[in-house]
Amino acid sequence: MTPFSPITRADCEALDRQDPLGTLRTQFSIPPGLIYLDGNSLGVLPTAAAARVAQVVQQEWGQGLIRSWNSAGWMALSQRVGDKIARLVGAAPGELVVADSTSVNLFKVLSAALHLAGVTRHEPAPGADGEAAHSPRRDVIVSERSNFPTDLYIAQSLAQQHGARLELLEAEEIPARLSGARGQDVAVLTLTHVNYRTGHMHDMAALTAQAHAAGALTVWDLAHSAGALPVDLNTAGADFAVGCGYKYLNGGPGAPAFVWAHRRHVSSAWQPLAGWIGHAAPFEFTPDYRPAPGITRYLCGTPPVLSLAALECGVDTVLAAEPLGGMAALRTKSLALTRLFAELVQARCAGHGLRLVSPTDDAQRGSQVCLARDEGAYAIVQALIERGVIGDFRAPDVLRFGFTPLYIGHAEVWDAVEHLRQVLDGGAWREARFQQRQQVT
Ligand SMILES: Cc1ncc(COP(=O)(O)O)c(C=O)c1O
Repeated sequence: MTPFSPITRADCEALDRQDPLGTLRTQFSIPPGLIYLDGNSLGVLPTAAAARVAQVVQQEWGQGLIRSWNSAGWMALSQRVGDKIARLVGAAPGELVVADSTSVNLFKVLSAALHLAGVTRHEPAPGADGEAAHSPRRDVIVSERSNFPTDLYIAQSLAQQHGARLELLEAEEIPARLSGARGQDVAVLTLTHVNYRTGHMHDMAALTAQAHAAGALTVWDLAHSAGALPVDLNTAGADFAVGCGYKYLNGGPGAPAFVWAHRRHVSSAWQPLAGWIGHAAPFEFTPDYRPAPGITRYLCGTPPVLSLAALECGVDTVLAAEPLGGMAALRTKSLALTRLFAELVQARCAGHGLRLVSPTDDAQRGSQVCLARDEGAYAIVQALIERGVIGDFRAPDVLRFGFTPLYIGHAEVWDAVEHLRQVLDGGAWREARFQQRQQVT
């Protein structure tokens, strides 16, 4: 990070006036006065989504009814929106579909990866007693100890089912675990590209190459990357990926997720949720499962049409940046915003016990800045929310702020830090009403 030069609010306003991406904000309905630093948890409402969903409800559903599966292209929505997301993550058309939740998709791809790696439960050979002499095998799933809980729970569950072992490491321990003789028992490396609690970004290409050199496969969770920063799955040579529709893709609460498998695996890997929409010919209603060609086999049940319609509008807001430099330009702005926020907090909130958790190195930072504080992190976030600055809290001690470059400006960053300074200086966060833990933090 370059040394911090004092910057004023007027400087921030000037940066916003010169911002070539500034017009993209007009695509969204953001309540006036709100500084929304939580697009990493739930993206804001694209203005087009309300009208589009109303149209799907009133015309396609209301008037077209069952005919709309054909006439309104409902059956192709998972693929159509998938092709749009593919453009944001370095995948080719036809390689990615929208389906289910991130958790469910992770179950599918991790199962497929374990299957490809030959990890199956070791049954003792007939007649063998007790400790059968097992041949050495790859049976370890490696992940990061601070990975998002759903990723760890799904991996734990699959490890149990397959008689495999889940090994959790610190990020910096992973390369050594993959190298030389130590890597020989690793079947799958599964990581979230950008850590949800720290904003630390892994080097996808380097870790994928290391995993492959060890003979292991990779599964990437792009929940905090897709739509936030450039991702190039094919160039990285990744094996499988999943990601989230409701964060930086602005798809709305509970928006469906996406799933991608490299073309070298897609038709050979077995995914366990063999539902009829992933069948090669669903409307032949045959009793036996025959997987559809390609990524379509990762679909399971009936597509959520209303949610897909909203998600498509969200993805379109990110694609609208393509003529302005696309993900590379969004990344440049995102880094400027996160750097500005971290530097302003350091300069203006010093002495209040805040620790910067996110990397200062641009190459290792996602699109969020996390601060830790021993006392009151939850209450400080609540006090900020009351003032119209929305971030979130991640237990036990993290204040998390996401910066979606599509709609956040430099002056808002300045104002957010000013609110934080006032909340800390005045001690407002100590008030009883800010201590009450809500269900969603
Ligand atoms: C890294 C990561 N993976 C997965 C999820 C959630 O997955 P799901 O959509 O299944 O709830 C989140 C949610 O915040 C997340 O941060």
